[in-house]
Amino acid sequence: MTALDLTDFVPEADVAAASTLPARWYVDPGFFPVERERIFMRTWQQVGRLDQLPEPGMFFTTEVAGEPLVILRDGDGHLRALSNVCRHRARTVAQGEGRCKILQCKYHGFSYALDGRLMTAPDFEGAKNWHPEDFRLPEVRLEAWGPLLFVNLDADAPPLAAMLGGTAAEIASHGMAFDAMRFVERREYDVACNWKVFVDNYQEGYHVPVAHPGLLTELDYKQYTIVPRAYTTLQHAPIRQNPGEHRRYESADAHALYYWLFPNFMVNLYPDNMDINLVIPLGPDRTRVVMEWYAVDPAAFRPTFEAQGLAFSEQVQFEDMAICESVQKGLGSRFYGQGRFSPKQEPAVHRFHQLVHGFLTAPGPGYPAP
Ligand code: FES
Ligand SMILES: [Fe+2]
Repeated sequence: MTALDLTDFVPEADVAAASTLPARWYVDPGFFPVERERIFMRTWQQVGRLDQLPEPGMFFTTEVAGEPLVILRDGDGHLRALSNVCRHRARTVAQGEGRCKILQCKYHGFSYALDGRLMTAPDFEGAKNWHPEDFRLPEVRLEAWGPLLFVNLDADAPPLAAMLGGTAAEIASHGMAFDAMRFVERREYDVACNWKVFVDNYQEGYHVPVAHPGLLTELDYKQYTIVPRAYTTLQHAPIRQNPGEHRRYESADAHALYYWLFPNFMVNLYPDNMDINLVIPLGPDRTRVVMEWYAVDPAAFRPTFEAQGLAFSEQVQFEDMAICESVQKGLGSRFYGQGRFSPKQEPAVHRFHQLVHGFLTAPGPGYPAP
């Protein structure tokens, strides 16, 4: 990999004195492969849901940092994430999703057990130095958090729970039933910006009054709070008692909790529902944002969601996408180099920039100290 110049950013621990990442970090195509290797291949990446694999033999395929993977429940009921690249001549072994007893490659018919062992290699009699036991599909780390599945391609990375810190306990302390959330709906949005622009935008509520007039009617913006932590950030705000027509909660102390997990996962929690955002870099200036909605009681949630909730979420999403595409354009300007932070409003953007710098300049093993 060619050396990437990272010397034009000097990290500053004090948000009040710090500058943003240089514009070049968002527009130079050289960052894409380096970020893939040093950030996306080392961190916990959400790949799907537990409810996609209720029974032995069920599988779905995905990609993480360009790596084809098959996520499955094996015959013993264990969840596994295997390389989805046939050890023979590299066709993907599984396609789409489904149910199977073995994984058979649809090129020359190599077949693998659901734990990755090579079972059959047709017409390989007479092959020299041939050790089928060395031809298993490599397995990568897989962990569940509530209804969600995450994988990590890095054997040296800390466990997901260590990355999340006290997030799960904190969610529970707010009376939010994260583990009981059930899938409702999924949408994908392609945005013409660098993935970091989308994450930056998520990390502050500073833009809500100007950019999201609809969302402003829901939240008590004066009490909006931002808490940067090691590898996560929390933003929270009380939900107004006289909101618009979008969501209503009986509880007098209903909160919205917005969590981000480095580098590209967000979960927005409300008393009885949540939505997640997964930010997937497709190229230096192309990003896919996957949104999924969950509810404790999908049947009860769905009518309001279909009548109002989805449109409301998408309105905010489209407002953010337009902002991000405009920012990407601006970052390419010869008149823009680096910005500054509001110490009150943008400490989580600052934390994200520190982590990006840390991961890019400390390639591992293990994680750089936050
Ligand atoms: S590539 Fe899979 S059997 Fe040949
Ligand atoms: Fe926004």
